[in-house]
Amino acid sequence: MLKRLAKIAIISMISGSIMFAANFNAQAEKDRHAFVNYFLKKFKNPVKNQAKYFPYVSIKEIKKDYIYPLSFQAFQDGSLSWYKPSKEQFAEINAFPPYEIPLDDGEALYKKPFANGKTYSSCFPNPAIKQNYPYYDTKKDEIITIGIAVNECRVKNGEKPLKYGKGDIAKVISYLAYKSRGQKINIKIPNANAAKAYEAGKKLFYKQRGYLAISCNECHVKGAGKRLRAEALSPALGATTQMPVYRIKWGGLGTLQRRLAGCVKDTGSEKPKMQSKPLKELAYFLTYMSNGMKLFGPDTRK
Ligand code: HEC
Repeated sequence: MLKRLAKIAIISMISGSIMFAANFNAQAEKDRHAFVNYFLKKFKNPVKNQAKYFPYVSIKEIKKDYIYPLSFQAFQDGSLSWYKPSKEQFAEINAFPPYEIPLDDGEALYKKPFANGKTYSSCFPNPAIKQNYPYYDTKKDEIITIGIAVNECRVKNGEKPLKYGKGDIAKVISYLAYKSRGQKINIKIPNANAAKAYEAGKKLFYKQRGYLAISCNECHVKGAGKRLRAEALSPALGATTQMPVYRIKWGGLGTLQRRLAGCVKDTGSEKPKMQSKPLKELAYFLTYMSNGMKLFGPDTRK
């Protein structure tokens, strides 16, 4: 009898922890479904839903300039997904994509031996890995972005880490992104601390900041599909799929971290450090929201 009770206790302990483990992403999945549905509904028929979602745009302008309905995957294109004039302009630019030369440089860097004779492929034998980043490392108890993984590989091989955001690191990441094209984003929330990191990122996304008291949400969820000065605001859904990007404004490649740091600063806050905890959490949340979407990086932006 006692033996049997013990057995039942053990089984229920095990199944209890399995049930618990499967639940770390329960809230995130709820959030993600709501997030995706909002965008699908919003861009299903903007003419019909103008009063609800686009009160600030005339029906005439919607008919002339908007692309719809948008499929889930269409959101990979940022503002180009819904705004015809941008899409046409960038189709011309991408006939000879400006990221091609730095992408070739990235491939050369990936294949170039370190001083010890090894290459990046000793760390990333299969370069199609970008869909898994950023991930929560349960041993280190922190978020590992793809930039951090690249630098860890260098340090492991006796090389100096690269500066984040642009230059060689953006080139190497572009090569990894290119090899990962078509892979579906697959961000996981493996434990309670990962769930906390997700929640912290979410909070940052919705937090009103700066003297404008404006949030990411205001511009890239509610404002997505609106124009702000000369810019068409991109939906936050799919926002990380095409990174790194070659920005005309930058005259070169930049990583997701660089873009996020810039967007925080543009809203009147102090510019956060790249790979700082808050910026990694923001990237973790934002990338999770696009789970299941196919990657298409690198790409070109204004
Ligand atoms: C005042 C409006 C505004 C706010 C607030 C804002 N952004 Fe942006 N963001 C822009 C504009 C304008 C662009 C360039 C056009 C576009 O792609 O939307 C942009 C671009 C981006 C892009 C690149 C999208 C792409 O497809 O290339 C990302 C990612 C981004 N913002 C994230 C954020 C995050 C995260 C926050 C909150 C910290 C934020 N933004 C807050 C206006 C804003």
